[in-house]
Amino acid sequence: MAARIIAGNWKMNGLAAALPEVAWIADAARDMTCVETVIAPPVTLLPRVAGHAGITPAAQDCHAADAGAHTGDLSAPMLAEAGARAVILGHSERRANHAESDVQVAGKVRAAWGAGLRTILCIGETEAQYRGGRTVEVLARQLAASLPEGATPANTIVAYEPVWAIGTGITPREDEIERVHRALRDRLASRFAQGGEISLLYGGSVSAENAASIFALQNVDGALVGGASLTAGKFVPIMNALA
Ligand code: G3P
Repeated sequence: MAARIIAGNWKMNGLAAALPEVAWIADAARDMTCVETVIAPPVTLLPRVAGHAGITPAAQDCHAADAGAHTGDLSAPMLAEAGARAVILGHSERRANHAESDVQVAGKVRAAWGAGLRTILCIGETEAQYRGGRTVEVLARQLAASLPEGATPANTIVAYEPVWAIGTGITPREDEIERVHRALRDRLASRFAQGGEISLLYGGSVSAENAASIFALQNVDGALVGGASLTAGKFVPIMNALA
């Protein structure tokens, strides 16, 4: 059985004034024995998020190199030292805004694993690809090229985030999410010895209203949540829907 995980991606949001939200989320997380709660704050808050028991602190990106002349970048060992235990990689915002390719993402995954960080690998199709009926084909290509050999349930989580569902309030139909997750599960299981147990998260406009029905779908092991993870008032009900 894949582990059940609820993850919050704060993106470029959150000053120190937001830390009480983390404390409230951590309180709720400690009560949930069967679900892991991950929070990926901006790096500036990472050490303080790492101070909360019950939460797995995560970064939102890393460089593929461990050190070097890369002004403004952070390496996986640096993030691990700052308290991260996981890192989101290949998010569609990084793929779009920083032109990250699957090959680059694969390099980052290897670097993260090398530093002992679990990877939350994001894949997702654009609206045009969705409308063109190419979703599974696109995801299979992204998964094959951005997830290197050596993925296990201990070092990898995969998040399916349709680009067109992120921050839009729109989600795929439930049968579409289930079909995609089935296809991803099959691919992971056929490629990796323990691939069938790698957690598969859905991401894109998850809310307290739709969480329970999404979590009831087969092969959905949790969610990667953006906007609704910024406040405990919205995130804790989503956590509870998975518990
Ligand atoms: O990584 C999470 C994300 O992209 C989904 O964002 O705001 O639609 O939950 P949101």
